[in-house]
Amino acid sequence: MKIKISKSIKSRKGILLAPIFAEDLKQIPDIYPPELQDFIKNRIKHDNFTGKDENYCTFLDHKDLPSQTCVIAAGKKEKFTPTSARNLGGKLGKQAKALKNTEVTILLTEETRKLLAEFLEGYLISQYDEALFKSGKKKANFHTETLNLIINSSTKDLEQIADKAQLIAEAAHYVRNLVNSPANTVNSEYLATEAKRIAKENGYKKAILGLKDLRKMKAGGILAVNQGCKREPKLLVLEHDGGARKEKPIVLIGKGVIFDTGGYNLKSSAGMETMHQDMAGAATILAIMSIVKKLKIKKNIIAVLPVVENLINEDAYRPSDIITMLSGNTVEITNTDAEGRLILADAIHYATELNPDTIITIATLTGAASIALGHRFCALLSNDEELLAKIQASGNAVDDLGWPLPIHEDYRKEMESKIADLRNHDTAGGGGAGTAKAAAFLEKFTKNNKWCHLDIGGTAFTARPKPYEVKGATSHGLRMLLRYLES
Ligand code: BES
Ligand code: MN
Ligand code: ZN
Repeated sequence: MKIKISKSIKSRKGILLAPIFAEDLKQIPDIYPPELQDFIKNRIKHDNFTGKDENYCTFLDHKDLPSQTCVIAAGKKEKFTPTSARNLGGKLGKQAKALKNTEVTILLTEETRKLLAEFLEGYLISQYDEALFKSGKKKANFHTETLNLIINSSTKDLEQIADKAQLIAEAAHYVRNLVNSPANTVNSEYLATEAKRIAKENGYKKAILGLKDLRKMKAGGILAVNQGCKREPKLLVLEHDGGARKEKPIVLIGKGVIFDTGGYNLKSSAGMETMHQDMAGAATILAIMSIVKKLKIKKNIIAVLPVVENLINEDAYRPSDIITMLSGNTVEITNTDAEGRLILADAIHYATELNPDTIITIATLTGAASIALGHRFCALLSNDEELLAKIQASGNAVDDLGWPLPIHEDYRKEMESKIADLRNHDTAGGGGAGTAKAAAFLEKFTKNNKWCHLDIGGTAFTARPKPYEVKGATSHGLRMLLRYLES
């Protein structure tokens, strides 16, 4: 998408979107052309337009203006926060999408100019096209092709803001494409190819480990979960050396379960259908790696992505199997549907050998996360309060929210097995705290390295999108972690 910034309306193609704040209805600012001012005054008079929720579209017959114009209520200035700027961007973006215009001109006053980064983020993210597999379709994530921003105050820094918003939106599209795509298209081979492409484009070091390598390493968690699948498991490793040579790396680990049937502890059909989302953690980390260099994030960052499919055949792992993990610990499989923690545990162990500063795991790990926190907050669990606070604050800053859950000593005990070192599921039943117990299992593999875990099981895929989202994949966690890495 091309974003052009100018002080007055130059193009009469496409549509004109004119957000207006409630306070500006008394004295409509100069940036609104006289014809538009008249239209707004009429709406105030005849429809009692308040500027709070309403949209009005009309055709203005003027030789210098786009013919179709929409006036969109922006609410009260005093309530205009970064989050409402993002939401307003989303509202305008959806309007442009609904009217199927490829060129869009937006009039922006001072309030929106101050929150332009957020406004643009909302607009651009809202342009996502979820109809990925309609036949005969041109590839186009952005409905808007040319976006003209009319801003009559200082235009310093605006281009930089626009470029960054585009990168972030593209990363959000990328996550959603990967997560919305079913498992017969986006499989382990596909993710491996993507990792290779991202490494090549950015000059990262990489390791693409397959079945042979994982067997040699004895990555028992990854191998066990993938046993029922004829395609190879993978461990994808990408390294961005953006920081000083001696600086310890931040290791980002994302759960990459291509599809989660539950294995022999089979999911019910209702719960299974959306389980192509179970690689959302890996998709998020791939998206981050695709832009960290372009965002000039000067840190050493290593992505470690275990990729498997939790399927059933005669080789599939069974409840009661005892497996030996990469770390050497033995685990009693008490539930084949608690597979994510097994592959993450191997990845965490791998990370501990990279001399990490911090380990971050992001995973659609438990359905219980949505029971605890609904669809707005992912769960944050950590062995380091300061790290958790930083990540939560990063999420708050970009409306990509997380909330802490506690790991109690008793939950750690629940993950111990009578016959092996650990078990992968607390079988007692009715114990609750499924999200915390999954994290308690992961924690055992961190060897006291600083670690924070994002459980996006309730937020990665939604039926209740934000104003700038659509149903399906959300990319939750992406902007939170990007902000954290920037800080
Ligand atoms: N991938 C699921 C978690 C999940 C469920 C994510 C729904 C998003 C939406 C995970 O592998 C799983 O099956 N977890 C089980 C754990 C249980 C067996 C201890 C769960 O949440 O029921
Ligand atoms: Mn599962
Ligand atoms: Zn899963």
